[in-house]
Amino acid sequence: MTTATGASDMTGETAVPGRTMKALVQEGRGSADVLHLREIPVPELREGRVLVRMRAASVNALDWHTTHGALLLEIIGKITRSKDEPVRGVDLAGTVVAVGPGVTRFKPGDDVFGGAVATFAEYVRAREDRLLPKPQDLSFEQAATLNVAGHTALQALRDHAQVKPGQRVLIYGAGGGVGTFAVQIAKALGAEVTAVTGPRNVDVVRSLGADLVIDDSKERVLRRPERYDAVIDIAATRPMSELRRLLNPEGILVEVGAAKHGGFVGIIARLVEWIVRARLGQRVKFFVSKSDTADLEFLLELIAAGKLRPAIDRTYPLAEAREAVRYVGTGEARAKVVITA
Ligand SMILES: NC(=O)c1ccc[n+]([C@@H]2O[C@H](COP(=O)([O-])OP(=O)(O)OC[C@H]3O[C@@H](n4cnc5c(N)ncnc54)[C@H](OP(=O)(O)O)[C@@H]3O)[C@@H](O)[C@H]2O)c1
Repeated sequence: MTTATGASDMTGETAVPGRTMKALVQEGRGSADVLHLREIPVPELREGRVLVRMRAASVNALDWHTTHGALLLEIIGKITRSKDEPVRGVDLAGTVVAVGPGVTRFKPGDDVFGGAVATFAEYVRAREDRLLPKPQDLSFEQAATLNVAGHTALQALRDHAQVKPGQRVLIYGAGGGVGTFAVQIAKALGAEVTAVTGPRNVDVVRSLGADLVIDDSKERVLRRPERYDAVIDIAATRPMSELRRLLNPEGILVEVGAAKHGGFVGIIARLVEWIVRARLGQRVKFFVSKSDTADLEFLLELIAAGKLRPAIDRTYPLAEAREAVRYVGTGEARAKVVITA
């Protein structure tokens, strides 16, 4: 049997020194205070899995939602009977230290990035089919931002809004992780991009190439005459009826976000509203992003072509990962927040 404890039948790898590691463990829920750095067992390897020494893992709104209310996620977890995972984090970049049976694409020493569970930890067990080799000219921190935020922005624009060159796209809530990717991907797809953001993020969003940046605190976008082929709602802070008034007759509203304030009831109410509107035939769409390494490869192509660059606000060492999650919850983060180890 292959274990992640300093011995591997397949590789002879001895890169994992002990049986335990540091990880950010959630104990309870309600605020970032429930997150604690603990010493826990290094995950055991399994068929088709690799063990990765985490070098960087980015924070997503999901980590904040799971730590705070989380009732909705708990209910979904119970319905889908998914395993309760106490270690937060779903984005990863690092170095393979051991490989399990059946792994063909990676070997110890390979630098990789992609998606996994429990990534706010020194070692992460990951499915090999959720990872790609990390390009040398992309830092671990940059690579760690791509999984959730990159997938979500790309799928919202390309698959759900089906943005075409020359179309007008409005990104509502452009300054966060998903938003900063969405602005650049919409430009790369050939759209004319209007970005709405808060006062703190105007400069960063402008630097990413938006054609027009609107400071939400100074101007109501609805008062402007322009109408859009697609509105990508990441902030989820404005009523859907208002956002739909921004569309031209054939335009589509794609709902990405779940507001951090308003709690469980607010999220459910918005979901119900979306279902009712979709049933009534309105062009509104809500989706949950899917992992697909072909999409990650597409993002790498945009990066190589100079059309996309992951924007990073702050990095935190693993020992301060709790503060990273807290910071993302303040709504003050610009672009992505990354944890390093
Ligand atoms: N559907 C999916 O599959 C999927 C996948 C990933 C994420 N999401 C959702 O997409 C949203 C963005 O995720 P993220 O990881 O990019 O989060 P993030 O980095 O924290 O970004 C937060 C976003 O919310 C906006 N916002 C507006 N008012 C806010 C407030 N009072 N407090 C906090 N944020 C506020 C921000 O806009 P400005 O900075 O521009 O003002 C920013 O766009 C979240 O709701 C998340 O749950 C959905």
